[in-house]
Amino acid sequence: MAAGADNAYAGPAISFRDVCFRYHDDDQHVLSGISFDVAAGEHVAIVGANGSGKSTLAKLINGLLVPDSGTVTVGGYVTNDPRCTYRVRAHAGLVFQNPDDQVVTSIVRDDVAFGPENLGLSPAEIVARVEDALRTVGMWEHADDDVATLSGGQRQRVTIAGILAMRPSVLVLDEPGAMLDPRGRRGIRRVSRELHAAGMTVVVITQHMEEAVLADRVMVLDHGRIVTIGSPEEVFTDPGRLRSLGLDVPFPLLVAEALRSRGVDVPLTLDEAMLEEAICRSASTT
Ligand SMILES: Nc1ncnc2c1ncn2[C@@H]1O[C@H](COP(=O)(O)OP(=O)(O)O)[C@@H](O)[C@H]1O
Ligand SMILES: [Mg+2]
Repeated sequence: MAAGADNAYAGPAISFRDVCFRYHDDDQHVLSGISFDVAAGEHVAIVGANGSGKSTLAKLINGLLVPDSGTVTVGGYVTNDPRCTYRVRAHAGLVFQNPDDQVVTSIVRDDVAFGPENLGLSPAEIVARVEDALRTVGMWEHADDDVATLSGGQRQRVTIAGILAMRPSVLVLDEPGAMLDPRGRRGIRRVSRELHAAGMTVVVITQHMEEAVLADRVMVLDHGRIVTIGSPEEVFTDPGRLRSLGLDVPFPLLVAEALRSRGVDVPLTLDEAMLEEAICRSASTT
């Protein structure tokens, strides 16, 4: 059932092996042949057009859904083993797109306490975890506020605090900035960057390529299959291909593409410093 005691487990944080999934028996597979590992402490971004299967994959990671065939292992626990359900959920916290889908009570500190209360922890432990989680997301000074008075970005950070209070080792964020303005998105990005820096495994599903390029690796999904998985530099090289997959082109790549179409010899790169250098070189030779 499990690969060993939590502390002794040294395998990948998340492991998918030939996973297929469909919502109804007579439907097409929503995901097929999905295999990948995420190392402990890694930061992986998942991108893909609407309907490509990203949210389904997120729910498979934390055991809300289980595969029809193949296996999903989280922290060494197999998600379709009912004896592991609790362990899987405790290991992998999932934050949905819309914070209102997850907020359950009206006062911030009560909302964050909801998860830990369900873990059966002592009241003192719950209080400590709530404070710690709210400080981590920069919302401690709002602990006694009514959730309804918060901005979308603040509400989403409260949602993340609720997950963190369960002390998961993997955080899965499903388009956490989708309902937010750029400022709200920056707040979420700062929190996920800090959590990753503190050693947490972070999987973020995003429509925003400027967010995806910050990950260690990027996975591109198309019609329920992995098209490619690699470093941002490996994945974001071909603007035409990105567009055909329904993805935005990251800004540095757009600039490089526009310059090349005007005959300026610059590489197709995400590296802004390299781009700048090539532009200067090209300007000095013309
Ligand atoms: N609860 C559901 N029941 C049936 N089909 C679903 C359900 N949720 C999603 N789907 C279908 O599965 C496919 C993938 O959806 P989803 O995982 O939400 O994609 P994404 O998050 O990339 O937009 C879509 O075709 C969608 O219509
Ligand atoms: Mg989705």
